[in-house]
Amino acid sequence: MTDKTYENIKIERDGGVTFLILNRPEKRNAMSPGLHYDVEDALTWLEDDPETKVLVLTGAGEAWCAGQDLKLYFRETSKNPAERKKSNTASHHWRHEILSRFSKPTIAMVNGYCFGGAFTQLCACDFAIAADDAIFGLSEVNWGIIPGGIVSWNLTDMLLPRHALYYAVTGEPFDGKRAVEIGLINASVPKDQLRDKTMELAQKLLNLNPGVVKFTKQAIRSVRHMNAEEARDYLGAKQDSLHRADKEIADKVGMSKFLDEKSYRPGLGPYQRPGS
Ligand code: COA
Repeated sequence: MTDKTYENIKIERDGGVTFLILNRPEKRNAMSPGLHYDVEDALTWLEDDPETKVLVLTGAGEAWCAGQDLKLYFRETSKNPAERKKSNTASHHWRHEILSRFSKPTIAMVNGYCFGGAFTQLCACDFAIAADDAIFGLSEVNWGIIPGGIVSWNLTDMLLPRHALYYAVTGEPFDGKRAVEIGLINASVPKDQLRDKTMELAQKLLNLNPGVVKFTKQAIRSVRHMNAEEARDYLGAKQDSLHRADKEIADKVGMSKFLDEKSYRPGLGPYQRPGS
């Protein structure tokens, strides 16, 4: 089956890795209402697409995403409350509800500018790798608004409060290396190595049992705002549910290879999966 095509985004494939590329390079991939509708549709489709085993979110041209489109998302919908509400709902839906709960691993491949509202999808991705010279910034304070939508929540969820306050209140831009230091992203590399580094991580994820990866990422995200008692209860139920859902019964296979066959060391990596 051929892939869907869109006006504001592109879909590209590399093995089991699907690249969702924001494709308004002439506007630095700023998020217009049309872009939100396109990504919302594409992610809904890709969630159930069997060919998509890892999702990479990136941008065409020199920007990853310059945030919300100040003209099309803010100014032009200011006199059209129905359109504002519709695009605001789509904007929140694809980023905080679909992407942050995507059942397959997601990687933000930050090739350039990442401003304001773009932090929401940056934090929604499970992993983030940037070019050393990518520029990040909470520019809102520079032009008179607060980091809205849920950007302020994303900042305090992902960063230590000192860093969240500093970068939100000063609006000071920072590069990929600094983004690693403050825990916003996993790694930064020279731009010409960005795709290889991203594919290296994607390949590592592809070698793991997808059901266990899915349950693990759900568990990590879910326990974050629970207390220890709630987390213990939830994780017990989650493990039971994984055991029922996992056709490979990974814990039994791995345990047997370690304890009975003595052919494998769990501490050193995943076992060779049946059929892989
Ligand atoms: N909303 C709407 N349009 C945007 C945009 C945004 N967030 N970011 C860039 N654009 C548009 C520019 O208006 C310009 O359009 P034009 O060619 O019709 O004039 C085009 O994209 C190129 O932008 P330009 O500023 O000329 O590119 P640059 O490479 O010199 O600078 C940025 C890139 C990202 C540093 C700069 O565009 C910028 O500061 N954008 C705003 C970022 C921001 O504050 N985002 C937060 C929104 S929540």
